Amino acid sequence: MKLFLDSAITDEIKHSLEYWDLDGLTTNPKHIKNSGKPFFRVIEEIAGLFSGTDKPVSVEVDPHLTDWEKIVEQGVKLSKMSPNFVVKVGASESGFKAIRELTQLGIRTNATLIFSVSQAWHAARAGAYFISPFIGWKEAYGESTTTFILEVAEMLERHEYDSQIIAAAIRNSRQITDVALAGAHCVTAGLAVYQESMQNPYTVHGEKIFQAAWDETPSEDS
Ligand code: E4P
Repeated sequence: MKLFLDSAITDEIKHSLEYWDLDGLTTNPKHIKNSGKPFFRVIEEIAGLFSGTDKPVSVEVDPHLTDWEKIVEQGVKLSKMSPNFVVKVGASESGFKAIRELTQLGIRTNATLIFSVSQAWHAARAGAYFISPFIGWKEAYGESTTTFILEVAEMLERHEYDSQIIAAAIRNSRQITDVALAGAHCVTAGLAVYQESMQNPYTVHGEKIFQAAWDETPSEDS
């Protein structure tokens, strides 16, 4: 399962590229806002960080756009800025039409804000390169997500769609485990979620035991 960072903060991206050999990046309008920089400035900086790699960077079109032709127009503009850019489009009738058109133009897309298998199916039919089911948002409203990724994965496999699942809005280690076992191709989460997922209180406890043993081991000159 590929590890994507969900962020538009350049220091976080540099850190995860350096430490984790990040597989790709996802951004959304919230992350762009949190960067504190204008949209085009920050995505140009991000493009520079991924230049010369084949790592995908999802950049979302203006979420106010409801006309598919306008979505396509902006998607084409974004795709010309960097070969890494994947055009992120919200799930809707116009969004799926735009995904279909962008796909026909050879532009990779990421169908975002996916909350049901039927939306994932429309995205796959339209040719979406990535499909992003939102796990954390569903759970925040009390919905179970136990079978969500599994069902999307099974739908894609059974009907031989090539789209890859990015399990999105991931909040904790348990969700990383669940989506990995359910067949997500990629996972995207914030820096802190991944850093937490590398830790465990038992590991800290174990390190203390080993440090004590190390300190009590006779030295070479004893
Ligand atoms: C996915 O591509 C989205 O950017 C992301 O996971 C949305 O959720 P969040 O920003 O609430 O984590």
